[in-house]
Amino acid sequence: MIALRSVVLAFLCTLPAILDSRGLPPVSWCQQDQSYDSRREAMVREQIAERGVRDPDVIRAMRTVPRHLFVPTEEMPRAYEDHPLPIGYDQTISQPYIVALMTELLQPRQGQKFLEIGTGSGYQAAVLAELVDTVFTIEIVGQLAAEATDRLQRLNYGNVVVRHGDGYLGWPEHAPFDGIIVTAAPEEIPQPLLEQLKEGGKMVVPTGKAWAIQTLTLVEKKNGRIISHDVAPVRFVPLTRDK
Ligand SMILES: C[S@@+](CC[C@H](N)C(=O)[O-])C[C@H]1O[C@@H](n2cnc3c(N)ncnc32)[C@H](O)[C@@H]1O
Repeated sequence: MIALRSVVLAFLCTLPAILDSRGLPPVSWCQQDQSYDSRREAMVREQIAERGVRDPDVIRAMRTVPRHLFVPTEEMPRAYEDHPLPIGYDQTISQPYIVALMTELLQPRQGQKFLEIGTGSGYQAAVLAELVDTVFTIEIVGQLAAEATDRLQRLNYGNVVVRHGDGYLGWPEHAPFDGIIVTAAPEEIPQPLLEQLKEGGKMVVPTGKAWAIQTLTLVEKKNGRIISHDVAPVRFVPLTRDK
């Protein structure tokens, strides 16, 4: 999957040279893409590695996924800045460091199956898709679910399955999951998600009141018991429910 994407990008980036050699005007979009590449490198170095994210696979995934292609056109120049960005429908794509931190906490690896609640732009799902076999992701806003499905397909993330619905209930047909990531904040951890976590699995979830400072919690299921650790104060959009 990763190799195919690299080959396609490498091929596309030779086109300006081919066009130049025929005496046609140079094509600038590839140079633009290279400038996004260097901004992405700086983001990983300064915002993620220097803040203590160490897992080399997570670092590689953050260096690979083209975050600027997951935000609205007008936000592309800010795609690699150190904060969340609006993605429409009153929702956001999370700060890059938070994406990397939550990913590292789950210790993802090949052979695993993950569930994400809150697809949004599809960026977090793409980062996870670089690291595990399959990502199931649920988004409650229909337009965002449709846009993310389309974007992930165009970018060749065939191992991500997007569903429009209320993620509070999880996705029992595909449970149990090795990892569950919740990217919108419920007041308390949804019971269906605890039930759908595999023995030995991990869940990372922000909990707390809407629009207040919440707590990012790492949950592990060991011998049928739920063990929770508070990780950091965070601020996520609230987990909403279908009316
Ligand atoms: C902070 S954004 C997620 C960012 C996303 N992970 C990304 O990479 O762009 C939170 C998302 O959760 C969605 N959401 C809120 N409540 C939900 C629910 N009950 N089920 C599924 N998605 C929900 C919101 O619509 C929003 O798109």
